[in-house]
Amino acid sequence: MRRQGSTNPAVIVHTQGSRTHQRGFVPINSLRQVTQMSKPVQDLRRDYRAGSLEADELPTDPLDLFQAWFEDARDSEQVLEPNAMAVATVSEEGAPSVRFVLLKSYDARGFVFYTNYTSRKGREVDATGRAALVFWWGALERQVRVEGKASRIAAEESDAYFEARPRGSRVGAWASPQSEEIASRDALKASFEAREEEFADKPIPRPPHWGGYRVELEVIEFWQGRSNRLHDRFVYRRAEDGAWEAPRRLAP
Ligand SMILES: Cc1cc2nc3c(=O)[nH]c(=O)nc-3n(C[C@H](O)[C@H](O)[C@H](O)COP(=O)(O)O)c2cc1C
Repeated sequence: MRRQGSTNPAVIVHTQGSRTHQRGFVPINSLRQVTQMSKPVQDLRRDYRAGSLEADELPTDPLDLFQAWFEDARDSEQVLEPNAMAVATVSEEGAPSVRFVLLKSYDARGFVFYTNYTSRKGREVDATGRAALVFWWGALERQVRVEGKASRIAAEESDAYFEARPRGSRVGAWASPQSEEIASRDALKASFEAREEEFADKPIPRPPHWGGYRVELEVIEFWQGRSNRLHDRFVYRRAEDGAWEAPRRLAP
């Protein structure tokens, strides 16, 4: 996990404050390697030099390494959503699909995210019992991949998290039939307002169709970008007794 200082010398940070008033523009700092600007897509490339990952620094439990990397991402000012992860699911016919969600907790039992149980991802996790995750922390030139069984968490655990969400998000969970076609933004707004009225001055219970999934850690891979595409990759797999096998280095 060696790093050459906290920032990648190849990255220059621009604050695009002047664009914040344009319709649809989000006022964030954008990361650009100046030399990449205006290049055709096929010429976009970056040589990764931020760090390395060596066999002798790998812990026995990969969760310890995940925690160290997650904390680096969380504490980096250049990582916008450190807990954003893509979750891949597969339909019963074998068609994969992938989208981002937010990691909300992790421990030895697995990684938890929250969603609508009737959404496409919800239906696919329920039907197949499996999911895969990937994090990309660009400023740190790191990727983490997870594969494993996935299932709904206990209702009480979902209740506790739902209770902690801002009121607007709780109303939204009732108002949005996630993944269904809707007539218009106005229809969504009307649905939200009707729910707001319904729950005015009342506690908002967790909708039965909303809650968490836990993706168990069966396979977890750590990737650190290196120069000349000779990246470091180590994968941990569980043995039959559930213990972690020694990590193996994979070709990049
Ligand atoms: C950064 C980011 C975080 C997101 N977090 C969540 C989340 O935690 N839960 C969720 O249901 N959708 C989240 N979404 C929206 C999903 O990507 C997706 O649009 C939605 O869940 C519907 O997916 P589905 O139709 O494949 O089920 C997030 C999107 C982005 C870009």
